[in-house]
Amino acid sequence: MTQHDTPATVVIFGASGDLTKRKLVPALFMLKREGHLPSRFSLVGVARREKTDEEFRGDMGEAVSSFSRAGSPDRAQLDEFLSRTFYVCGDFANVETYKWLKTKLDEVESAAGVKDPVRLYYLAIPPSEFPVVLEHLAAAGLSPRDQADRIRIVIEKPFGHDAESGRVLNAQVHRTFEEKQVYRIDHYLGKETVQNILVFRLANGIFEPLWNRRYIDHVQITVAETLGVEGRGGYFDEAGILRDIVQNHMLQLLCLVGMEPPIRFDAEQVRNEKVKVLMALRPFGAEDLANSIVRGQYVGGDIAGARVPAYRDEPSVDPHSNTDTYVAFRVFLDNWRWAGVPFYLRAGKRLAGRTTSIAIHFRRPPLTLFRQARAPEPNLLLLQIQPDEGIWLRVGSKRPGGRVEIDPVELQFRYSTTFDQGPPEAYERLLLDAMHGDSTLFAREDEVDYAWRVVTPMLEHWKANPGVPVTLYPAGSWGPLEGDRLIQADGRAWYNEIPGRD
Ligand SMILES: NC(=O)c1ccc[n+]([C@@H]2O[C@H](COP(=O)([O-])OP(=O)(O)OC[C@H]3O[C@@H](n4cnc5c(N)ncnc54)[C@H](OP(=O)(O)O)[C@@H]3O)[C@@H](O)[C@H]2O)c1
Repeated sequence: MTQHDTPATVVIFGASGDLTKRKLVPALFMLKREGHLPSRFSLVGVARREKTDEEFRGDMGEAVSSFSRAGSPDRAQLDEFLSRTFYVCGDFANVETYKWLKTKLDEVESAAGVKDPVRLYYLAIPPSEFPVVLEHLAAAGLSPRDQADRIRIVIEKPFGHDAESGRVLNAQVHRTFEEKQVYRIDHYLGKETVQNILVFRLANGIFEPLWNRRYIDHVQITVAETLGVEGRGGYFDEAGILRDIVQNHMLQLLCLVGMEPPIRFDAEQVRNEKVKVLMALRPFGAEDLANSIVRGQYVGGDIAGARVPAYRDEPSVDPHSNTDTYVAFRVFLDNWRWAGVPFYLRAGKRLAGRTTSIAIHFRRPPLTLFRQARAPEPNLLLLQIQPDEGIWLRVGSKRPGGRVEIDPVELQFRYSTTFDQGPPEAYERLLLDAMHGDSTLFAREDEVDYAWRVVTPMLEHWKANPGVPVTLYPAGSWGPLEGDRLIQADGRAWYNEIPGRD
């Protein structure tokens, strides 16, 4: 991360919420600790709960101690950080809140001797509150058009709940902010391992020539969790895993694996190439929607020796819910590079293991030269996003001995053993990029729109056919049998190995 010293003020709407406490403020503190924050930096939190600046500082101090990767922070550093932290209490629907905020910003910025700093509004609030805050920011003169170069807005997911609502939200955002001011966050893109996908592909000479339909048989993208809804039952029951994970994180991974090299590594060029991947996705026909998309939901089962309840018995979940906690499907990119190569995507909760990975399965060699009992396994490149971040390459090797027996062996790179410091939290990188005005790792308007266009037909199909039940799977399994059959029908199988796991 590079050092910029342009003064900056971050305003977090939703400053008494979970995201602020667990992610945003600990990330800002880590940036401070590592010398990445500008010397004149201020943080202003806005939320409904009554608090003084002092009380807010106390809460944020605890949040840093509990959740930052620094463990227990240096007291002097923390105090210095907190001394630049302020709070405004008010309801988002109240015009006065924005007057108080404006007064506070004037006080804070003039006390710091700062005029016209970079200002980042961070919407860490329920999506239902996005429009009201956007409208009031404009009305209160907190986002003047002639200062678009220094004022930015970060918007949390979910960005809409289908294609139409995503477009409506984009239009609302653009009434107050130009596209260049808008940072739609997908924290997956802030993960080191996700950024490394492009570095791995494009900073090495040996992989890119193989990265196409001639050498790759198929690609599997998996986001598997062992957790259930963890107190978010109400939210999740409305959303489902297709909206929560696939529309954003998984399609971003697909874009990074599938995209063409950009002509420059800048925000517009990288995002242009990602959008082309989404545009190349073959639309689902009626037959695919009916037969080739597996929607599952967990029933009770055992995870790591403990009994866990069925999804429908989770708190705040409708006991008759048909919400998807698992989804699996196959897509094709109809472009020159990938024509005919299937991409299998699956995401699930309460599965047998926790892993986010991209498994690139290569074609077999053209000729089997070695006479042996079984054919060698094809090469496999595993990009392991989490846990145990790293890259694994499976190659065939002769087992020592008089006969030719070919065993699969692994060449591996692990972050944990290669680098002496762990990767920064995704939010650290993303907050800093937004302060610096670099939107490469944020989703552009058209990217979000195309991503919604991919999943909306599935959502509409499920809605139009409420009588079609979800397929059930026991918690602690790898999902419904229908998910296995989906890929087996093509003569393939899901890759369920998790590196580092016995
Ligand atoms: N939590 C996560 O890990 C996570 C991860 C990814 C995305 N997100 C997204 O981030 C956003 C925030 O999530 P969260 O989990 O932090 O939510 P949360 O814990 O419910 O916090 C919501 C915040 O918004 C404030 N708020 C809500 N309505 C308000 C109003 N009318 N006036 C003033 N303040 C209001 C709340 O203030 P009071 O409590 O004081 O009323 C609180 O500070 C959501 O869009 C969520 O989808 C969260």
